[in-house]
Amino acid sequence: MRRKIVAGNWKMNNDLSETEALLNDLIAQVPNTDVNVMVAPTYVNLFQAFNVLKEHNIEVIAQNMHQEAKGAYTGEISANMLKSVGINTAILGHSERRAYFGETDELLAKKADAALANDIQVVFCFGEELEDRKAGNHFSVVESQLKNALFHLDASAWKNIILAYEPVWAIGTGETASPEQAQEMHAFIRKTISEKFGSEIADELSILYGGSVKPANAAEIFAKEDVDGGLIGGASLKAADFVAIINAF
Ligand code: PGA
Repeated sequence: MRRKIVAGNWKMNNDLSETEALLNDLIAQVPNTDVNVMVAPTYVNLFQAFNVLKEHNIEVIAQNMHQEAKGAYTGEISANMLKSVGINTAILGHSERRAYFGETDELLAKKADAALANDIQVVFCFGEELEDRKAGNHFSVVESQLKNALFHLDASAWKNIILAYEPVWAIGTGETASPEQAQEMHAFIRKTISEKFGSEIADELSILYGGSVKPANAAEIFAKEDVDGGLIGGASLKAADFVAIINAF
């Protein structure tokens, strides 16, 4: 059975007191559910978030991670540092990391290796830009992102990978892929993984959709066969909206 997952990516939002307030709202409002709920606060609040949520069914995850174990990498955070504050999952390859911080598929391959070697589950983000879709290249772009960053992995690594398809044109824009566009791409992604790693791995793999998921559109997107949940940006910053999205399953 594939896991259903709703993950909130808080990006560079919420200072310590805002983080605590949102966590407490989530504790009060997140229902008992078979959906795996995750939240990704900023690095400086990870430890506090881990402590606040320790007894609760909400996993605290990181927004990023460096590929090296330690050393002269000013401003960076290693897998082991995340583990040491209770974090077992990291988002890698978010389109904002790719666009603003120059992260490439080749770098992300190294980050994925470092995460998996340290038993950190990876939420791997990828997706085409608007020009790619307009030119009809969206399938080939997505396929090459997967191939370049993840096809070198052993089959055994896939139990620790979650994919998050996030068309760049839908992130933070209020424009969402239609449920049909999401399903079409998710089915393509699953087929691509199946052809390389086998149908058993592909069938077990959770593939999330991200890009302007809101309470009003979550149910119809999550209803699609190959959509196993969502990576939520803006709407994860309000407990009521995030909980409504979880309840949309
Ligand atoms: P959004 O962000 O929900 O605000 O579009 C999604 C994401 O960046 O993961």
